[in-house]
Amino acid sequence: KNLIVAFGGVSPEHEVSVLTAIQAISALEDSAYNCIPLYVTKSGRWLTGEKLLDLSNFKELDKLEEASKSCAFVKDDTGKTLLREQEGGGLFSKPKSYPVHAVVCAFHGSEGENGSFQGVCEMMNIPYTGSGVLGSSVGMNKVKAKLVAAAQGVPVTRAVNFYESDWQQEQEEIIQVAEGYDYPLIVKPVSLGSSIGVAIANDREELINAVETAFRYDAHLLIEEAINPLMEINCSVIGTPEDCRPSVCEKPLGKTETLSFEDKYQSGEGGDKGMASADRVIPADISSELTKKIQNLATKTFSALNASGLARLDFLVNANTEEVYFNEINTIPGSFSFYLWEETDLPFDKLLEELVDIALK
Ligand code: DAL
Ligand code: MG
Repeated sequence: KNLIVAFGGVSPEHEVSVLTAIQAISALEDSAYNCIPLYVTKSGRWLTGEKLLDLSNFKELDKLEEASKSCAFVKDDTGKTLLREQEGGGLFSKPKSYPVHAVVCAFHGSEGENGSFQGVCEMMNIPYTGSGVLGSSVGMNKVKAKLVAAAQGVPVTRAVNFYESDWQQEQEEIIQVAEGYDYPLIVKPVSLGSSIGVAIANDREELINAVETAFRYDAHLLIEEAINPLMEINCSVIGTPEDCRPSVCEKPLGKTETLSFEDKYQSGEGGDKGMASADRVIPADISSELTKKIQNLATKTFSALNASGLARLDFLVNANTEEVYFNEINTIPGSFSFYLWEETDLPFDKLLEELVDIALK
């Protein structure tokens, strides 16, 4: 049975996605599945081929592209979907086609995680892991995700959101609303992950600089109140909106006040360990009451956002009062959050198998 592992993409989280995919493929090595890579290049080409199974080949992307084959999903005469290599190559080399059992979505950010790729799978009638179109697109948008969560009674931090044109016309008003929450303030792109473009502003000058920098990444931004003293606690959830369960909680330990892109992915030896390399305490060293509270909020928010398969929900906790706020959902978390499941519940291969089972339901 062929599992198409889809990863890469035009997203700024491209490299992180390559790590997640290669980790998943190696976890499935001894499983009943045959993994076939579907690598979307930074310019959006769809490629397949053996060379894509080895992380070390990603150091030279040009060579890798040359050694791989263009591919696409097609339907055969009976309506079955195949991953087909495109024509080309030698005179006698017939393009190969692979029947698709399911797709493992291992993208992070942009089209691969925001529902676009999920929509392609829907159109092609292919089962795929993770959230559907709605859950993926709402989850990718930090403003919409907070609105939906808040409507279900999940606490969220106060925030003001605005587009570039708003900033040009109403900068003073936006700053005034934000300053009403007091400094420090957090500036975030609405639709990006991995802390890209996120900055902390301690005064007005830093705020304006942070906003202007963040507009390089996204045309829609958020300024949020900061929680102080802050403790970040994350929890993964597996299942469907009707029937899901939480993992243990983790406490990520950023070197700066918010985890930076470098903290998450480029620390650790060789920088090739993905999310598993960020420093973290698992299970989080918090009381069992607080753990329960966060786990309950995690499953409640997962359902409210129409998430499915697996997600990681990130919470902000006031370390003094233990008030908990939903911060964001990652509908395709780095490394599939396998490190939150392996000790207590599921080893990585079984976690992926469960995701495929949920996709096939
Ligand atoms: N968006 C990244 C991969 C994460 O937070 O898990
Ligand atoms: Mg996060």
